[in-house]
Amino acid sequence: MKIAIPKERRKDEQRVAASPETVGKLIGLGFSVSVEKGAGAGASFTDAAYKEAGATVAANAQAAMKTADLVLKVQAPDASELKNFKKGAMLMASMGALSDAKGIAAIAKAGITGFAMELMPRITRAQSMDILSSQSNLAGYKAVLDAAGEFGRAFPMMMTAAGTVAPARAFIMGVGVAGLQAIATAKRLGAIVTATDVRPATKEQVESLGGKFLEVDPEMEKDAQTEGGYAKKMPAEYFEKQKQVVSEHIKKQDIVITTALIPGRQAPVLVTKEMVESMQPGSVIIDLAVEAGGNVVGAKLGQVVTTANGVKIVGHANVPGRLAEDASMLFGRNLLNFLTPFVDKETKKLEIDWEDEVVTGTLVTRGGKIVHERVQPAKPAANKPTATKPAAKKPAAKQSAAKKPAAKQSAAKKPAAKQSAAMKKGS
Ligand code: NAI
Repeated sequence: MKIAIPKERRKDEQRVAASPETVGKLIGLGFSVSVEKGAGAGASFTDAAYKEAGATVAANAQAAMKTADLVLKVQAPDASELKNFKKGAMLMASMGALSDAKGIAAIAKAGITGFAMELMPRITRAQSMDILSSQSNLAGYKAVLDAAGEFGRAFPMMMTAAGTVAPARAFIMGVGVAGLQAIATAKRLGAIVTATDVRPATKEQVESLGGKFLEVDPEMEKDAQTEGGYAKKMPAEYFEKQKQVVSEHIKKQDIVITTALIPGRQAPVLVTKEMVESMQPGSVIIDLAVEAGGNVVGAKLGQVVTTANGVKIVGHANVPGRLAEDASMLFGRNLLNFLTPFVDKETKKLEIDWEDEVVTGTLVTRGGKIVHERVQPAKPAANKPTATKPAAKKPAAKQSAAKKPAAKQSAAKKPAAKQSAAMKKGS
């Protein structure tokens, strides 16, 4: 069975879906692998390294993909790439499946069996396959370094003969995977760190990393988390209260890093124009949610904006891609970990279990159709392209788990304390 690794073609994308290490492992499993020439260049992986791992290097995407049964990509293919797929080929990538209805419709129409890896169920068994976690972790780290790069002061307190340098105050909004890593990184650099989130479980996680938690409304936050561990959309009263609490806090902060996302929806606005105006000149805001509409009023995708009062708002696109080598290595491992259990050790054939929760959770297109209940068909052109319908009440993973025998059902989600401890360990 042949796997193709084409070069990524979307703007700002330096990553690649397999490293020489994962290519070697795929070949060990019995696959043959064809890598497009230069596919790993943005991630510092040379063609020679892929060849040494056992892959063939194809002159272009068409040559790499035309006979491939499975294509591994970081980003969903655009229209020009779709024509390179063999009819009925499989694709594993980050597809933007809950927001790019048109793109998914095109993939279905091309007859591709598509797995949207960002929809991986959040179950213990699938943690090693979770591209959102592996990439967000790096984004959280890089956000702090980007902030330090833009900031005209130091992060740690320094007592020097010439005088004392005060420590920076860093405020992290949204304490998921990226937020936790941002807290850990800012702490390591010596900042005084505070953080906030709608999910109450995060308070303990923030404190375990040495940060201080900024509480908004514990009563309303009781019901803020979905069964899958994601935040729910909060009511207007919550946002009002959050605004008051954050307004008071933010004016004393030097660094603000926002990471708040709600799957399939526009990111919530957490930092208003007035809040930005209340900050000191030289302060830096990093909006990690800028690609999902942004958490910060005034953030611009792909730009560093300096406001009239001298605050920098950083809206870098594709932050994990700014650490392309590690991001590609981890992304490649996520895909390898997804594939490995489906390879028959004796026959070395890929035998996907179509009933498995990690498959039903991620499979979005098959047989020319969209087959995932959370993925909406493309709307008529008159509708706004960014608007997405609310996700179905019942998560796909849960529904498929219900059909399965007890032994196959996944273990419970990793408890909060354990997760933050793990994050600490990795730090
Ligand atoms: P995310 O990227 O969807 O969102 C980032 C953070 O923003 C979340 O913590 C969310 O609660 C927060 N947020 C959303 N709206 C907000 C608002 N209005 N104000 C303040 N904060 C807001 O989340 P991510 O990083 O994907 O993680 C979500 C959860 O899933 C975490 O508990 C994480 O530990 C857990 N997880 C579990 C995995 C597993 O068991 N396999 C794998 C990865 C994450």
